[in-house]
Amino acid sequence: MRSTLHLLIASLLSAACLTASAQTPAHLTIDTGTIAHPASPGLYGLMTEEINHSYEGGLWAELISNNTFKGTWDGVEGWGDVVKGDAQITQSMDKTDGPSTAIPYSLKLQIASASKGNEAGVRNSGFWGIAVRPNTTYNGSFYAKTDTDLGAATIRLIADNTGDVLASTTVPMHTGAWSQYKYTLATENVPTSSTNHIEFTVAHPGTLHLQLVSLFPPTYDNQPNGNRPDLIEKMQAMHPHFIRLPGGNYLEGDTLADWYNWKQTIGPLVDRPGHQAPWSYWSTDGFGLMEFLKWTEDLHVEPILAVYAGYSLKGQHITPGKDLDPYVQSALDEVEYVTGDTSTKWGAERAKDGHPAPFPLHYIEIGNEDEFDKSGSYPARYEQFAKALRQKYPQYKLIATTPFKVMPADAPDLIDDHYYKSPADMFALVHHYDNAPRTGPKVFVGEWATRSGSPTPNFGDALGDAAWMTSMERNSDIIKIASYAPLLVNVNPGAMQWPTDLIGFNALTSYGSPSYYAQCMFGAHMGDGTPQSEVTGIAPEARFFYSATISSGTHVLHLKLVNATSNAQPLDIALKGLGAGSHSASLISLHGATFEATNSITDPSAITPADSTVPFTGSTLNHTVPALTIEVMDIPLQ
Ligand code: AHR
Repeated sequence: MRSTLHLLIASLLSAACLTASAQTPAHLTIDTGTIAHPASPGLYGLMTEEINHSYEGGLWAELISNNTFKGTWDGVEGWGDVVKGDAQITQSMDKTDGPSTAIPYSLKLQIASASKGNEAGVRNSGFWGIAVRPNTTYNGSFYAKTDTDLGAATIRLIADNTGDVLASTTVPMHTGAWSQYKYTLATENVPTSSTNHIEFTVAHPGTLHLQLVSLFPPTYDNQPNGNRPDLIEKMQAMHPHFIRLPGGNYLEGDTLADWYNWKQTIGPLVDRPGHQAPWSYWSTDGFGLMEFLKWTEDLHVEPILAVYAGYSLKGQHITPGKDLDPYVQSALDEVEYVTGDTSTKWGAERAKDGHPAPFPLHYIEIGNEDEFDKSGSYPARYEQFAKALRQKYPQYKLIATTPFKVMPADAPDLIDDHYYKSPADMFALVHHYDNAPRTGPKVFVGEWATRSGSPTPNFGDALGDAAWMTSMERNSDIIKIASYAPLLVNVNPGAMQWPTDLIGFNALTSYGSPSYYAQCMFGAHMGDGTPQSEVTGIAPEARFFYSATISSGTHVLHLKLVNATSNAQPLDIALKGLGAGSHSASLISLHGATFEATNSITDPSAITPADSTVPFTGSTLNHTVPALTIEVMDIPLQ
């Protein structure tokens, strides 16, 4: 009893102390006329890979799942029979007959009986549903082969629950060799929903082979084989400067055979064999290297091109030397495909693929997370790639994926550091780079995230992320580029492999997590110089963080303030160099009631930024950062 009372008094006293100290303003001094070091205006970029159905069933707007009929031990996932009336049909895989050498197999439908009103065929439910919207045109295609006169195929979009036909069309088919057929489906006044499927049926008996079945809704910028507009728009709001592509583990593959062989991901879809991706599902490579590059164009950003460097996730590696040569050549060819003019072999190939103009490039990353290669082969593998890349492309900066015990003679320009942390560990990490050497390779934080929420970060994660961003900004004289990972998650049960991803979506809609909004706020307000600054009156262990950068072109101070405590934090902000008279700062504020508070697919806007203005006079701004709040303040300096 005595000890309980004692504890109670102690906790009341400590709460009183906390409140008292929280109410005492801290002093933040920023000398707006003294730039301590340069900041990296292009700091923020994007990173994801084929994980969590980021592309297949995500960004890539294709609506048909498993559209190349990849079989698993469960059968041909995603596809079922349609049997109307007394029709009869048998489905099987024909492993010897397909529309191309890349896809030499197909779904074989043996229709024993079918007639008008008694149709037979197949159905596909898309990626956890097919989003259907009113007054919308969908463009589709499929490859088929039949030696029987099956008449026309009927294609219908159908509501799962009511059986209502939402759109339908017929496509006459002919007998003979494999052919590609195109179709459109147009809806009228139908409800918006995703509980729908598509059916392909015929009304005559016979045998039909099907392959590469496709259906696209309107895409971003109406690009063929393009992207989901809502996801592109969400990424644009982050103001990114680059996309690190294609991965991540996706670059490496589980085994040597599963490496990201980019040459098999370009050209007509029918010439792409697809490959086993490391995150447990098959990639058709319908979203291949060209689609990655066009994604950078949708966002007006540059690729950071990661080239496969001969290590696979299960621990195998290619021996440096002549065994590695073909992979080095592949990397050289890949850079030529991305950047070469049309007089080069691979630049011409890119033009053939519909993009004569080269893509901009500044950075090439050699491998991914090669610290996991316990054989110790990375230094030699890195050097073999670096030598060839530097010789042919001296203009590009090279990124190594792990620090070296002995720095190679031709040192990398940057090292890629990855951080996945709990909120508490992320708060503890914020001074990691403050005293890091300013000589030697710069830093690419190619993957980072505060992780506790699932499927997307909660507000506590956003606080950790914002604290970490203040740290990266403060150190952006050496941290030149950084990308959160992973970016995307399909939130349907079974779609996710990696909890805590920035943007969640299902077939119909998408939402930004609190961390997403924090990144939008930070990314849109990043300067090119870090002014001299100092804070006093805040204990070093307190969870209060800030960064200040100045845009030299616009003369704006971007001040980021992060209060990860449950007490408001008053600040006297002395802005040395700011003139007398009245000023007006713009303020964006993101607040969550608790660490656990979050957004979700059903409550997408629980936590969103709020805009306001902060008028003040003279060079001192008195401002209180509310508890559990992330703020970005723009202060015009003239
Ligand atoms: O971002 C998810 C994974 O985390 C990446 O594929 C890998 O590089 C890292 O281990």
